[in-house]
Amino acid sequence: MPVSKTAKTYNSDAFARELERAGVAFAREVALARYTTLGLGGPAEFLARPRSVDEIHTLLTLAAAHELPVKVLGAGSNLIVSDSGVRGVVLHTSALDSVRFDEGGIVHAGAGCHFPGLVRQCASKGLRGIEAGVGIPGSLGGVLTMNAGAYQFSIGPLVDEVIAVSASGGKVVMPRDAIDFRYRASSFGRGLIVAEARLALAPDDPAAIRADMDGRMRFRKQTQPVGVKSSGCIFKNPEGASAGELLDELGLKGLSVGGARISDVHANFIVHNGDADTADVLGLIDAVRQRVRETTEIELEPEVVTWN
Ligand code: EPU
Repeated sequence: MPVSKTAKTYNSDAFARELERAGVAFAREVALARYTTLGLGGPAEFLARPRSVDEIHTLLTLAAAHELPVKVLGAGSNLIVSDSGVRGVVLHTSALDSVRFDEGGIVHAGAGCHFPGLVRQCASKGLRGIEAGVGIPGSLGGVLTMNAGAYQFSIGPLVDEVIAVSASGGKVVMPRDAIDFRYRASSFGRGLIVAEARLALAPDDPAAIRADMDGRMRFRKQTQPVGVKSSGCIFKNPEGASAGELLDELGLKGLSVGGARISDVHANFIVHNGDADTADVLGLIDAVRQRVRETTEIELEPEVVTWN
């Protein structure tokens, strides 16, 4: 009788034993919905929380030896997880959250730092440069990997150095000049994982920085759905245009599939009230792309990352 070949050929229990022996914290079959800002999605087969560069490397090496795919999870703010979840390993950066302030505006921060929190800590120390990014709901590692931006803010010019890790190369120290920051993309990702960054900020009056930060947050609250479950902007802006403006002009605000709906505040956001599943969100993304393709011949590219 022919033996059917399943996608899962690795030995999960052996991997778990080795991970335990190596002292890397992990859990099995962890529901990912609570780790994404969209609040949806099935379980991760393994959710591991390395605490250091060495532990990241150990995890990557063991996963490679067992041929388990590894995905990196930060704050889950730009992520859609399928209802069936993901097999293999999700490397959660949450334990890499140390922050250290040095002389001359230098900040050492772990990939798992929640970005808005880091921005606020820098502001209270009187350090200017990242305050415009206060509303970006990601982790520092995610901001660097996605080259997330808001208004005129971009992280690239503030980076002095990044410590990253890959399965094959181990620890890599990359000065700013060696890092390629593009629109919503960078040198990181595809197996090269940010562990820590050194940022160079400029001293200024904390009250002035805080005032700027508050102004940005007020503006964001007027123009984007804040405080509701979403994964941020769904599509990249097409060349020379705003995806949100385009979808708004096409009358797509309020369009829904199941419990997922195009936000009335900003048309590049999909929101829900807790009564959606991931299939609804993905169905809505497809419907929007098709509508745009038919009427404008523009092929919208998702900005969000989908795991399935
Ligand atoms: N607009 C509309 N209707 C809408 C949405 C926007 O008419 O429903 C108009 C706005 O009035 C404005 C223009 O479109 O005139 C541009 O809108 P916005 O300033 O919101 O900028 P965006 O290009 O839509 C980008 C980023 C956002 C980031 C904002 C602010 C992308 C895909 N989006 O949006 O990032 O917060 O600029 O800097 O690059 C994200 O990455 O998740 C994200 C939301």
